[in-house]
Amino acid sequence: MHGYVDLHCHYLPAVDDGVRTEQDALALLRGLRAVGFDHVVATPHIRPAMFDNSPEQLRASFAALREQFAGEADLPETSLAAEHFFDDVVYGLLVRGEGLAYGAGRTVLVEFAYERLPLGLKERFFDLRMKRLRPVVAHPERYEPFWRKPAEAAESMRRAGGVLLLDLAALVGKYGSKAQRTAEALLEEQAYYAACSDAHRPADADDVGRSIERLRAISGDDEVRRLLITGPQQILAGKVFDAFD
Ligand SMILES: [Fe+2]
Repeated sequence: MHGYVDLHCHYLPAVDDGVRTEQDALALLRGLRAVGFDHVVATPHIRPAMFDNSPEQLRASFAALREQFAGEADLPETSLAAEHFFDDVVYGLLVRGEGLAYGAGRTVLVEFAYERLPLGLKERFFDLRMKRLRPVVAHPERYEPFWRKPAEAAESMRRAGGVLLLDLAALVGKYGSKAQRTAEALLEEQAYYAACSDAHRPADADDVGRSIERLRAISGDDEVRRLLITGPQQILAGKVFDAFD
């Protein structure tokens, strides 16, 4: 089964903690293609004080990379979005419509600090929804509030309008046993809308391949298809609204 869509990957070189060189970007994209991904979205961090990337700089870097890769064989389709760290500054950027949204411009990838969810999260998600923007929450299984009560935390995120994006490698223990157990509990609840690689290095592609097999063993082929094909396609197209409203 191929045709997977990866909504979260750090292959834009030298802009964050992802790959450092074009050669590694190429190797990572080829590795993801080999485990079934036909489209991989670059989602570099936008996180003030840690990764001070502006959307304009990221667009320019991405255009340069695409130019460099023109003519390379065996690459998946590529596109650009960003992983927005949801602090005051980045919330402001998003609510003004100046973030790097997915595909159709209706969905934005957000991440939080691990220890606690941001204050005023529900109100801020509501503000985004008023702007017809749907927040996509990166790696919820790594957040401590999800460890304690996964089903409740997922339900409260769903009510706030967010959709949950599984980091596949959590299923093979890459982020520890708590994140792994939480990911399994959220799969059990069918709380995820889609799954992704969040790969940072060429070697991560092998973990992703193993993780997809683990997902298949836990949840079956239909869930693999939903989380890696139809869910991501709906997020790219901005068509998650019907399923949740
Ligand atoms: Fe990430």
